[in-house]
Amino acid sequence: MKVIALQGSPKKKGNTATVLSFVEEELLSLGHEFESIYLNSKNIKGCLACGKCKEKPDTVGCVQKDDAPEILDKMVAADLVIFASPLYFWGVTAQLKAIIDRTYSFYVNFHQPGHASIVKGQRQALLVTGGGPYDNNAEPVFTAFGRLQNPHMAVNAGEMFIGLCSTPENMDETVKEKAVAFARKISS
Ligand SMILES: Cc1cc2nc3c(=O)[nH]c(=O)nc-3n(C[C@H](O)[C@H](O)[C@H](O)COP(=O)(O)O)c2cc1C
Repeated sequence: MKVIALQGSPKKKGNTATVLSFVEEELLSLGHEFESIYLNSKNIKGCLACGKCKEKPDTVGCVQKDDAPEILDKMVAADLVIFASPLYFWGVTAQLKAIIDRTYSFYVNFHQPGHASIVKGQRQALLVTGGGPYDNNAEPVFTAFGRLQNPHMAVNAGEMFIGLCSTPENMDETVKEKAVAFARKISS
């Protein structure tokens, strides 16, 4: 399976990157192809809502000339996309949100006859870390993510929230076990 991870934290070696590295290790050991994209180093502008992409239903078709089209093409070619982010005020980071908004270019005719998507059937998974002590802290992100598969016509492969994070060095030992189980679930 070809896996693309969108690493949405500004921290290259923070909590999100650390949990994602556990997932990567397990996916590689299962024989999957894995590439992580560090979004913070990319130039990704917000969606313009120009609708030009809807004129090209078989390709990404976004007219903005920044780093997003290449990333979007990689997402389209993937069997599994992992959206990874720290929780920022009960949402994902601006870095990840920007590329999610640009996936507006993946589909046409949502809620209308002729609904079609170039990522139809793709598996998509969500990995979120947070510092807060609440079990349901990431619920708003889970809700939004769970709906993303509707316009994309994709499959929700799984969601994981790791709360109470301080630093990667102080991460609870059970986190790695959870990440390994998550990797197996989302890839099977
Ligand atoms: C701007 C900002 C907003 C945050 N909002 C939340 C939040 O709403 N809930 C929460 O549990 N943690 C929140 N946090 C804490 C981070 O989600 C947490 O420290 C996360 O594990 C950091 O991941 P990273 O090391 O990959 O950047 C926030 C941190 C920042 C900087």
